[in-house]
Amino acid sequence: MIKSLDEEKDNMRNVLIIGSGGREHSIALKLAESRQVKKMFAIPGNFGISKLAECCNIDIMNNSALVDFAKEKQVDLVVVGPEVPLANGVIDEFEKNGISAFGPNKKAAQFEASKSFTRKFIKKHGLPGIDFEEFTSFENAKNYIEKKGAPIVVKADGLAAGKGVFVARTEEEAITFARECLEENKFGKSSSKIIIEDFLEGEEVSYLVFTDSKTYKPMVYSQDHKQIYEGDKGPNTGGMGAYSPARLLEGFEDFLDKEIMSKFLAGIKEEGIEYKGVLYVGLMITKDGPKILEFNCRFGDPETQVILPRLENDLVEVMDAVIHQDLNSVKLEWKKEYCVCVVLSSKGYPNSYEKGKVINGLDDVKDVQVIHAGTKEENGRVLTNGGRVLNIIGLGKTLKEALDKTYSQIEDISFEGMYYRHDIAAKGLGK
Ligand code: GLY
Repeated sequence: MIKSLDEEKDNMRNVLIIGSGGREHSIALKLAESRQVKKMFAIPGNFGISKLAECCNIDIMNNSALVDFAKEKQVDLVVVGPEVPLANGVIDEFEKNGISAFGPNKKAAQFEASKSFTRKFIKKHGLPGIDFEEFTSFENAKNYIEKKGAPIVVKADGLAAGKGVFVARTEEEAITFARECLEENKFGKSSSKIIIEDFLEGEEVSYLVFTDSKTYKPMVYSQDHKQIYEGDKGPNTGGMGAYSPARLLEGFEDFLDKEIMSKFLAGIKEEGIEYKGVLYVGLMITKDGPKILEFNCRFGDPETQVILPRLENDLVEVMDAVIHQDLNSVKLEWKKEYCVCVVLSSKGYPNSYEKGKVINGLDDVKDVQVIHAGTKEENGRVLTNGGRVLNIIGLGKTLKEALDKTYSQIEDISFEGMYYRHDIAAKGLGK
């Protein structure tokens, strides 16, 4: 039976997006395509998101204020982007108040909030992991580093905005980072415990799935570019670009299913954890096959920016299926195209940088998505307002076409000190 327009409108939903990055702008764009969305709100959002949603400045760590807002605005679906509010139990609060919310609860978010929790889970349930030890005593950590030698990886146990992982090339570097974490509170409570892992040689790839705790549906494979400089040199950033599909995981489908996802789902069942949302598995492809580097409890940034433009399904329907544990009924469909994202950042990022530079040329850009991260509007001008400023996303029938489209449009955009990598997806071109 064909529904009348009024009937359709009655079934439409008010959606609230929590977060302010490129990932959340990309999610907002995808949700805006849904026939089920009546009105969107964002907390706090950014300039790009403000074109699609009403943005409100509420502390994303204040669970009761978020719930009050959702009640007042009659929100029917909440989508939480970043890990910090997830680890703070925001989903549990929405659920307690009868508000449908997409993302893992506090217990499940531990997979990102505690590296030690994750490493122990991986070991106990036989997923492909890495040798590690955990420490709260600096002396013991130092002795372990001296015994194992370098290169070696030292990680703050808790959340540290992507800065808590240190790949030490020398024992001295590893000991210094361990001291900063354990004796100098480098990341506060998040580094009162560290874990030290073996260093792995290989290429990193991001494997994201939707899961409702009973089953999972993989997204298309993608690869991030974490280092600031070309050739993967220099300090880590939040991500300087991404592309999809990343062919590196092709041929590992069976391994991903049997050795990772089936064991993950069986393991959480045994531990009494309900995990509903996105699970992001960071993998290193070593000569011995894929090994798990980390779990994140949310969509990746900038991976989301190259995954969602390829998704054919209505994202609201997928999220509903996750929340209602009906994911089995969903068949994810993907565009066959390639997608590339290049991040434009402020001079100095990931260290200190200036804000408030005028961004020119945004109106001249065509055929690509312009996703905002650190931007704001002042007196009719768009200004930089963060380290990662904009994401330019292009689709193409080949990776080269997607890259050419993306980089050619970047030439029209400028702001003082604008920086970007010219080698995004270069590794994918040969595959
Ligand atoms: N792209 C890395 C992350 O989202 O953690």
